[in-house]
Amino acid sequence: MRRLFGLLAICFALLFGSAPAFAADLANGAKVFSNNCAACHIGGGNVVNGERTLKASALEAYLANYSAGHEAAIAYQVTNGKNAMPAFGGKLSEADIADVAAFVEDSSAKGWS
Ligand code: HEC
Repeated sequence: MRRLFGLLAICFALLFGSAPAFAADLANGAKVFSNNCAACHIGGGNVVNGERTLKASALEAYLANYSAGHEAAIAYQVTNGKNAMPAFGGKLSEADIADVAAFVEDSSAKGWS
């Protein structure tokens, strides 16, 4: 019986002890954003093209496939670039792009305040 409890404890620790691998890291996303995006998108704005901000209403209006999945649509544009926005596919890892997409989505949902 004690052995069974020991095994259960180990299973519990394995299941709940660490964050799931698929969860985006918002803190890392914020860091990636300030290092790579803030020059053009400070505060969720856009210093190059004033209409194409990172506010939810602008993403809704201009970002391709936004309605199909917010983070995926953001990650796609970050990976591939668009017009005056450079592509980051060769510069950032997939994990960093997923994290920065999650950060942009989270911030836009909160109105960048
Ligand atoms: C050199 C300036 C520049 C940098 C750096 C830059 N962007 Fe952009 N970004 C733009 C421009 C310009 C657009 C508008 C592109 C278009 O639709 O013509 C844009 C558009 C976007 C959009 C769609 C917004 C909309 O309203 O259409 C997202 C999302 C975005 N950028 C995210 C990022 C993220 C995340 C990073 C950092 C990894 C980043 N950008 C780095 C210039 C930049």
